[in-house]
Amino acid sequence: MRKREGELRFPEGFLFGTATAGHQIEGDNVNSDWWHWEKSGKLPVKSGRAVNSWELWKEDLDLAKNLGTNAYRFSLEWARIEPAEGKFEPSALKHYEEEIVYLHRLGMQAMLTLWHFTLPEWFAKKGGFSRRENLWYFERFIKFVLANLTEPPDYWITLNEPSNVYVGGSYIYGLCPPGKRDVWSTVSVFFNLAEPHRVAYGLIHARYPEAKVSAAINMMCFENFDRNPLLSVLAWAGDLFFNRLFLRRIVGFMDFVGVNYYYVHETRWRDLLPRALTRRIIKEIQLGERFDIAWPVYPQGIYKIVMSLKKYGLPIIITENGLADDRSGKREAFISDTLEWLRQAMGDGAEVSGYFYWTLMDNFEWTSGYEPKYGLYSVEPKTFKRILKPSGKYYRKICRDKALIVGEG
Ligand code: BGC
Repeated sequence: MRKREGELRFPEGFLFGTATAGHQIEGDNVNSDWWHWEKSGKLPVKSGRAVNSWELWKEDLDLAKNLGTNAYRFSLEWARIEPAEGKFEPSALKHYEEEIVYLHRLGMQAMLTLWHFTLPEWFAKKGGFSRRENLWYFERFIKFVLANLTEPPDYWITLNEPSNVYVGGSYIYGLCPPGKRDVWSTVSVFFNLAEPHRVAYGLIHARYPEAKVSAAINMMCFENFDRNPLLSVLAWAGDLFFNRLFLRRIVGFMDFVGVNYYYVHETRWRDLLPRALTRRIIKEIQLGERFDIAWPVYPQGIYKIVMSLKKYGLPIIITENGLADDRSGKREAFISDTLEWLRQAMGDGAEVSGYFYWTLMDNFEWTSGYEPKYGLYSVEPKTFKRILKPSGKYYRKICRDKALIVGEG
């Protein structure tokens, strides 16, 4: 593939944003299943006050603006809006609405996620999304949101990474609440989750016919670097199960495709072995460099993924992409490489309308606590002071110029 040199321009209306999620930044999310999970000692670190964004949200939106971004993705915390079954807290929804209003005042677009991994504890106790009869609770929550929100966001994300990351973490590996490891729940949740997406899609469109709605689908790039034809079949199957099975079930209910992309899966024969046997091997031969999180980072994977989505004929937005690393100073190169490959896909006909870097500032990284640093701002643990990192300055220049300089130095 030809690599470009010089200035790569992005179209005028292109969205350059950052993404966050309520539980990871707000703090004191006391009625959520995650809060209870953390309290029960299942994790070495608790979210606690997180980075206190519940109080500092205005400052945070100013930081996003100062970054030169024209869009911001954030999420509702269902547990704050409906802390007890059927008991809604309008002031919590108002809080989120104020964020939308403020973003608009700043001249930025708001992308609102309705559900980003956390559940109200009362809903989790009923079995959460693993029981079909529970789905209407989510529907009731969406109805409440739609009936009471007077300033709608510009983009809606119904569910964040429902099929693979949520199901994997919570029902296959048991690392996240409810900590299950059983096949039946896995299959139920996987199949059940398409429904809340479709329902939310319909309800949002009934209220706002012009709304732009999607889910944020986590997609992994499956590569067979050995070019072995049999392994290609395995890579194809991995892509089908991990990336596409869920997407296919909801693609008729999407106005754009939201993609969270982080890393590559190098397809090997070991994929055919039971995971228990391969865990050690996987550790030893991770592809590429390892950063705060041991994911094989692979910027060019974004090209392959985006090109593979062209066939759906929908605009594509990268709703998350980021690098957890403050030590190597490679975030700038990571962003540059990723955007270069994204721009290349656009040149080759993919309709990409935005890119959201994960994340605005360092925050609570789920089971990994506060160690992984994805942010463009760092946050001092005691004072919550936000400090712009060199990579933040770098991204700021790209966002302001709507262009990227490549192939120099
Ligand atoms: C999730 C984020 C998370 C990020 C980095 C994504 O899968 O949506 O909540 O912080 O990955 O691990």
